[in-house]
Amino acid sequence: MVNPPLTDDLREHLVDMWVRVTNEGGSVGFVPPVSAATIRPTADRSFDRVRQGTDVLVCLVVPTDHEKIGGSLRKNDPAKAPYTAEIDLVDTPGTDSDNRASVGLSGALTGERVVAWLLLAESESLLRRHWRTVYRVQVDPAFQGDGLGTKLMASAADHARDELGLEALTLMTRSGTGAERFYKRCGYREVGRIPGAIRVGPNDNRDEVHFWLDL
Ligand SMILES: CC(C)(COP(=O)(O)OP(=O)(O)OC[C@H]1O[C@@H](n2cnc3c(N)ncnc32)[C@H](O)[C@@H]1OP(=O)(O)O)[C@@H](O)C(=O)NCCC(=O)NCCS
Repeated sequence: MVNPPLTDDLREHLVDMWVRVTNEGGSVGFVPPVSAATIRPTADRSFDRVRQGTDVLVCLVVPTDHEKIGGSLRKNDPAKAPYTAEIDLVDTPGTDSDNRASVGLSGALTGERVVAWLLLAESESLLRRHWRTVYRVQVDPAFQGDGLGTKLMASAADHARDELGLEALTLMTRSGTGAERFYKRCGYREVGRIPGAIRVGPNDNRDEVHFWLDL
């Protein structure tokens, strides 16, 4: 799903996921422990860029009737196969009226729930409009390790190439998290590394690793 309406409900849902992802060790701009109050201002700036049309929000959604099994979804869960098969990417440009993702009551979308998302940021430079930066990549902790992250990255690349007409995507990650291996498996190649640029704690500086994907 691309650019669903960023209602208050959906914004809170995404912030809540971001908090849980961070507190379970994810590297999305913060270090644990973190609260919604800490993340919300940063999230709001990102969401505002989506509303202004400069950034694109790409989500993976599942039917809400799968929500109950979400927390227990594991590789040996027999519900896993049909669950992953139902994940869909749907363009939702335009108004709410043509958007099946209308606002729901469960902090998500009617009939569907966002379980993974990322943003595609447009550069402010007119000379850098043939590529975008991928950021805020995250999968709900209850759904990690089942291929959704890989599917999210592939869906974003498809959208970037086919709908946005882009030639490449780039992203940055901190070293020492395992994310480098994940992005390489998604087809990205390391193109740069700034040693110790990210301080995640006292005496714990991580490299900022730059990746690039030709589309
Ligand atoms: C990174 C992330 C998006 C991957 O999504 P996912 O659905 O778990 O990934 P997939 O199931 O498609 O792929 C899993 C593979 O990536 C590896 N991997 C992905 N992220 C990893 C991480 N942060 N640490 C260690 N391994 C990771 C897994 O070990 C696995 O590899 P394997 O099959 O060889 O064991 C997800 O784990 C996540 O949201 N992490 C927290 C947020 C975060 O750190 N985002 C990256 C910001 S740069």
